[in-house]
Amino acid sequence: MIIPHEIIEEIKFRNDIETVIGSFVNLKRSGANAKGLCPFHSEKTPSFHVYLANQSFYCFGCGASGDVITFTMKMENLDYMSAVRLLASRSGVSLPEGTERVSSKEVGRQRILDMNKAAAKFFHNCLLDEELGKPGREYIVKNRGLSQSVIKHFGIGYAPKDFGALHKHLRSLGFTDEEMITGFLCARSQKNNSVYDVYRERVMFPIIDVTGNVIAFGGRRIDGIKENKYINTNDTPAFKKSKNLFALNFAKNNANDFMILCEGYMDVIALHASGFENAVATLGTAITPEQARMFARYTKKVIISYDNDEPGQKAADKAFKLLQEVGIDVRILKSDGEGVKDPDEYIKKYGKEKFTALLNNSKSKFEFEQERILSGYNLTNMDDKVKALKELCQAISNYPSEVERELYARKIATQFEIPVESVNRDVNSIIKRRNSAQKKKETAEIYRKTSMIGDRINRESASNVNGNKIEEAILGMMMLFPQHLEICVKQLSANDFVTSLSKRIFESICAVYKECNKFDIGYIQNDFSVDEISRISKMIIERQQLSLNDDKTLQDLISSLKDVANKKEDSTSLDSILRAINNKKPK
Ligand code: UTP
Ligand code: MN
Repeated sequence: MIIPHEIIEEIKFRNDIETVIGSFVNLKRSGANAKGLCPFHSEKTPSFHVYLANQSFYCFGCGASGDVITFTMKMENLDYMSAVRLLASRSGVSLPEGTERVSSKEVGRQRILDMNKAAAKFFHNCLLDEELGKPGREYIVKNRGLSQSVIKHFGIGYAPKDFGALHKHLRSLGFTDEEMITGFLCARSQKNNSVYDVYRERVMFPIIDVTGNVIAFGGRRIDGIKENKYINTNDTPAFKKSKNLFALNFAKNNANDFMILCEGYMDVIALHASGFENAVATLGTAITPEQARMFARYTKKVIISYDNDEPGQKAADKAFKLLQEVGIDVRILKSDGEGVKDPDEYIKKYGKEKFTALLNNSKSKFEFEQERILSGYNLTNMDDKVKALKELCQAISNYPSEVERELYARKIATQFEIPVESVNRDVNSIIKRRNSAQKKKETAEIYRKTSMIGDRINRESASNVNGNKIEEAILGMMMLFPQHLEICVKQLSANDFVTSLSKRIFESICAVYKECNKFDIGYIQNDFSVDEISRISKMIIERQQLSLNDDKTLQDLISSLKDVANKKEDSTSLDSILRAINNKKPK
C-alpha cells in the first residue's frame, strides 16, 4: 500500500520531531539541535541527537536513527503503516481511501483486544453469578474485604474451575483456538492436543491500558497455596509487560502531585479503595527502564511503597535508581507495623489517615543513606568524621539533579559545621572523575560494537569494506543534495554498487526520482525494514557532518566505485572459473 508522498510530507510537517520525541525523551536544546538519553538502549550520558533542520534523529551509542515515522515505529512497536496512521490521526491528516486497511499484524492485535474484553466480561459475570462465583466472592469479598463498588471499578472477575469454561464461551463468540492461545487465555495440552483455559479457580484482575483496552490479566489463586500464586499474561501482540503498569488507566488522571509505586495488584487495589488513586504496580516483574520513562511522562514525583521484607527493600532500591535516572523525585515509604508486610495490610490495619502520614513522612533516598552512613561512624572521632564526610559526598554525587545536590551539600555542611563550598568541591570532583570514566566506557562499547560484531544490517559489507564505504558516501550525497541526486541517477546503475542493500537503496531512490524529481527518506520507508532505514539515515547524517560535499568529491567517489566494481567482477569471474573447474573434477 503506497501513501502519496505529499501526504507523508504533511504528516511529518505536522508531527514535529522534537515534540514527538520530547514526549518520550527528556531533550535538551544545544544550538539548532537537541539531545537526550537514548530510549532504545541504556546509557548514562546522552548520545541521542535530534536534528531539527532535517527532522531526523541519530543515536551515536546504538546507531538507531531515522525520522519521526521511524521513531514512532520503534517506540510504539508498530509497523510502518500503523505508525503513519497513528501520526496522521494525531495531527488530523486524513489518509486517502484504501489506506485505512489494517495490516495483518494489526488484525492480530485488535482481535486479541476484542477477545480480552469478552473474557473480562465473562470473568466478571462469573464472579457475580450466584452459584459459579461463590468461591471467588468468598475469597475476594470475605477474605480480602473488597466492596462491590471496588470490584466493579476494577472489573474484577473469577475464572471458574472447569478447564473449558472460557474456551467454550470465546468459541461461541467466534474466536479461534489460535487466537485464544496467542492471547494467553488458553493453552494446548501436550498430552492430547486439546485446548484448555490457562486461568482456572482464580480471581481475575484485568489490566487496562490508558486508552481503555483490556490488554492482559493477572489471576490470583484462592486456595491459599503459595506456589504460582499469580499467573500473569505473557507478552502477546497486544501486550508487553515491560511497557505497562497496573491501574495506570486510573492513576494517570491523579498523577499531578505524585504517584505511588507498589509491588502487587492487591496493594494497588487497597490504596485506590481508600482514595489513593495514584497508585500503580508493575506486572509480575521488577520495574524496567521503559516503565520508569512512563512514570516520567505522567508525574514528577514517585513514592515507592514496596513490601517491608528484604527482597521488597532490595527491589525498592533498584526501582529508586531507575526512576531517579529519568529525573523523577523519588521517595521511599515503609509500611512498618506489627504483623504488617505491605501497604495493603497497613491500610487495612491502620486506616488511611495513618497512611497519609506515612506518605508525608516518606524519606528521600538521601535521608535513608545519611542515616545509614552516620550510624557507621563515631562522630566524636576526627578520623571517623572525615571518613563519614567522604562517604556522604560520594552519596551526594550520585544525584543527577544539581538542585538536590546543593540541598544535601548544605545539610551536610551545617551538620559538620564546615563551609558548603568545600562540600561542593569534593562532590564535583567525584562527579568529574566518574563522568570521564563513564564516557570512556561508552566510547569503548561503541567501538567494540562497530568493530567486533560486524555489520548486522548489511552483512555483505564485511567482504568489501572499502567499496561499501564509497557506495554509502555516494548514497548519502544523493539523498542529501538534489544536484548530486541528478548526477548519480545519470551516471550510475544499480550494478555499480557492491552490496545488495546498496543496490536496493539506489533503485529505490531512482524510482522516487523518476516519479517526482526529488528525494525524501519518507518516500522509501515502505521498501525497507526499520534497521535498514536506520542505516540509510546514518548515511545521510554522516554525510551531513562532513563539509566535503562538492561535485569534485562526488565524481572521485563515482570513479572509485566503478573501479571497485570492476575489480570485484574480475575476482568473481576468476572465482567462478575456479569453481567451474572444481565442479568438473570427477569425485
Ligand atoms: P505479592 O506476593 O506481594 O502479591 O507479590 P500481593 O499483590 O501482595 O498479593 P496478595 O496480597 O498475596 O494477594 C507482588 C506481585 O508480584 C507478582 C504479582 O504481580 C504480585 O501482585 N507475583 C507474585 C507473581 O507474578 N507471581 C507470584 O507467584 C507471586
Ligand atoms: Mn499482599
